[in-house]
Amino acid sequence: MQYRPFGKHAFKCSEIGFGAWAIGGAWGAQADTDSLAALHRALDLGCNFVDTAAGYGNGRSERLIGQVLRERQAAGRKENIFVATKTPPTAGQWPPSPYDRAEERYPEAYLRANLAERLACLGTDKLDLLQLHTWTRAWNRNPTPFKILRELQKEGKIGLIGVSTPEHDQNSVIDLMRGGWVDSVQVIYNLFEQEPAAELLDVAQECGVGIIVRVAFDEGALTGKFTVLTKFAHDDFRSAYFSGDRLSRTVVRTEKIRHDLEHTGYTLPQAALKWVLAHPAVSTVIPGIRNVAQAEANCGVSDLPAMPTELVEKLRRHNWRRAFWYGGK
Ligand SMILES: NC(=O)c1ccc[n+]([C@@H]2O[C@H](COP(=O)([O-])OP(=O)(O)OC[C@H]3O[C@@H](n4cnc5c(N)ncnc54)[C@H](OP(=O)(O)O)[C@@H]3O)[C@@H](O)[C@H]2O)c1
Repeated sequence: MQYRPFGKHAFKCSEIGFGAWAIGGAWGAQADTDSLAALHRALDLGCNFVDTAAGYGNGRSERLIGQVLRERQAAGRKENIFVATKTPPTAGQWPPSPYDRAEERYPEAYLRANLAERLACLGTDKLDLLQLHTWTRAWNRNPTPFKILRELQKEGKIGLIGVSTPEHDQNSVIDLMRGGWVDSVQVIYNLFEQEPAAELLDVAQECGVGIIVRVAFDEGALTGKFTVLTKFAHDDFRSAYFSGDRLSRTVVRTEKIRHDLEHTGYTLPQAALKWVLAHPAVSTVIPGIRNVAQAEANCGVSDLPAMPTELVEKLRRHNWRRAFWYGGK
């Protein structure tokens, strides 16, 4: 496993992190035994960065991570595992509407209470990184939630502060980076969604902001394992994400990438991760991992040789501006 600076911060993060959404829920059946084994294996392979959220099974993902960290400590492991979690806004529109008030969606009493819950679920007294789970550019001129988080940081309850981009308007966090409000940004950047290369990634580098790349596989599609016949369980959010003609359109595009990878030596999942890591602003990429085989396959990508520039540039042609898919067509 190779390690990179986390922006201007002292911590060196593993190139491959552990995306812990699916182990919390919303991805169909998931046995905790598989999740625990997967996380242990990833950490054994040198992964030192785990991304989770309050919303991943209402604390289930965080509790599993807390359990693994306690088991490893009890086994006498001396390691520094960095856990990033997220606080969602109070109930309401997701992403927040332009008319929502930051003081109502992220009020101070709520942020304090939610932080206490995160600490309890993870079984710790200080969070390494707390990210606001979504944002709107409507709040950029007066980002009061981050003023409150900086206070909580001074009180010693949080190490670093971050934001996860709203899918439909990822560039909305650029002003937060320039204003020094965030230590890290979590962004969708993959072979289909290349827009962050226009500005966001460069600004992160200029400002020393850590970059966590999520959804590098486009929710599994860029592993190349889906066909037009793939069916998702009713309790797997992908039954909506890939509904209608979305799956078939995605498969056609994925096959074009597979064609470009012939004779390169890379499998599709390897190329999907290596391409992301080719951008120097990226600190860590956090593929979702559900079992030991995925932990091994994904962690192993870090030690493969860097993707040749020629191939990185060739794969840029797969950029796909398809807008925001989560909320339906
Ligand atoms: N708004 C936000 O802040 C936000 C939103 C989304 C994600 N995230 C974070 O980013 C992480 C990554 O995104 P994601 O999990 O949504 O999607 P992803 O990384 O694009 O896809 C992950 C899924 O691909 C499959 N997979 C993983 N490795 C594989 C391999 N080597 N070969 C074949 N299949 C493989 C697994 O699902 P199957 O085995 O079921 O196919 C896995 O759950 C999340 O876990 C979460 O921590 C944050």
